[in-house]
Amino acid sequence: MINIRSAPPSATLDTPIDHLGACHRRIEERLQTLERVGPHLLDRTAEALTALQAVFWFFDSSGATHTADEEESFFPRLAANLTPEEQQFLYELEREHAQADAIYDSLKTHVAQLTNPPTPAEVTRYNDLAAELCTLYRKHIKSEDARFPAIAARILTPADLDAISQEMKHRRNL
Ligand SMILES: [Fe+2]
Ligand SMILES: [Fe+2]
Repeated sequence: MINIRSAPPSATLDTPIDHLGACHRRIEERLQTLERVGPHLLDRTAEALTALQAVFWFFDSSGATHTADEEESFFPRLAANLTPEEQQFLYELEREHAQADAIYDSLKTHVAQLTNPPTPAEVTRYNDLAAELCTLYRKHIKSEDARFPAIAARILTPADLDAISQEMKHRRNL
């Protein structure tokens, strides 16, 4: 069995629905890093900032691509066959994407403006923004994992899944 935690991001691109779940595990790892870094902004500032740059690089590349996979490849192909309640569910997912993006932008801006070493007030603000992002994104992932694979598997045809797989590879320059 493939160990998703150490598998390269391309490992499940031929099975797009599985790929979404694999991306969620990678996102959860970065959320955990955001939380772990907070206490070290004061005592190991340089190390903490290096860890944050790696997390931001991930969210700006893989994280953004994951959202594009959902919003541009999956959601439009599902729209016509959703129940009204499922339409509301997808609408809610898109709304959460926008909310997460806004919190993420605030977090990134805040980190870019930190003094060196950061003040306790700056660290508190960092911890608040990181907690807000983690809470929202974990809830988002939980609801996607719980419902989205079954909806996608019910509606999408093998041809749809092939096309989605191709689009996902194209997005990653593969
Ligand atoms: Fe999502
Ligand atoms: Fe997702």
